[in-house]
Amino acid sequence: MRSFLFIPADSDKKLAKAGSTGADAIILDLEDSVALSNKEAARANARDYLKSASAEGPRVCVRMNALDTPFWESDLQAVIARRPFAIMIPKTISGDCVKTVAAKLDLLEREAGIEAGATRLFCVATETAASLFNLGTYAGSSARLFALTWGAEDLATALGARSNKDERGVYTEPYRLARTLTLAGAVAAGVIPLDGVYKDFRDEAGFVAEAREAVRDGFTAKMAIHPAQVPIINRIFTPSEEDIAHARSIVEAFARAGDVGVVAVDGVMLDIPHLKQAQALIARAEAARSL
Ligand code: COA
Ligand code: MG
Repeated sequence: MRSFLFIPADSDKKLAKAGSTGADAIILDLEDSVALSNKEAARANARDYLKSASAEGPRVCVRMNALDTPFWESDLQAVIARRPFAIMIPKTISGDCVKTVAAKLDLLEREAGIEAGATRLFCVATETAASLFNLGTYAGSSARLFALTWGAEDLATALGARSNKDERGVYTEPYRLARTLTLAGAVAAGVIPLDGVYKDFRDEAGFVAEAREAVRDGFTAKMAIHPAQVPIINRIFTPSEEDIAHARSIVEAFARAGDVGVVAVDGVMLDIPHLKQAQALIARAEAARSL
């Protein structure tokens, strides 16, 4: 899975577009893109969408409201029986938040007569100051956890920042730290490191640059807020033919050399981490093909 497109669940017009965007997954938002007065309508829309969603379409996730609101349990009650692919928990502080939601899902799945553990969980794990100290606590929190992502907007508000980017449009230190900790936390937990959103949806060059940096650093998927961002994510997060050929040449060089820890390819020293990196890229390319 490479692209996750956010859709405010109170927007019939945007929901109608969901199936044709090419996103690997959509996230029906019940949280911050929905006004308080529309929470109930958004829940009903999400439930109806799940009921009629085609199995060939994008996987359907739902973003619940945060655990410190009066909404989250009603959000889950409204949608779990309709079998969303996953629930996104916003503003998590630690792996304990995952455990809290997982316990509620155990109950709701039982009531709905669906198999235990069918509903996956993923988190926006950097939206409060305290959350930055806990990115290592997601590992082992729940077998339901399948991805971790980060957010720079709520974090900026929480930290009292005037802006989260400098005059060149580059994230400042606190947000780069949040991004790095999310990447490491996700990899440590064995789940998908999912890069955050790019708000300026008309700035294609900026979006491409951010997506490339994410792939370079190890993220394997990215969220979109606008349909135009989806094909860009799908392209950039799918290894190119050139990348695959290069990875194959590394694997083959090791195979030819026999039982060795180091080889030379085109005048460059490569050892075991490079072999593993090449094998991982080939595995990702194969996974992208089987989507
Ligand atoms: N999902 C599905 N369709 C979307 C969409 C989305 N996230 N964003 C825009 N569209 C649709 C629009 O409805 C419009 O449809 P139309 O051609 O039938 O009129 C088309 O794509 C082009 O949209 P555009 O006019 O370029 O943007 P907009 O001004 O309508 O919307 C946003 C801009 C930012 C409000 C919108 O993209 C959006 O709501 N994004 C998601 C926000 C969100 O969920 N935030 C929470 C997570 S950070
Ligand atoms: Mg947020």
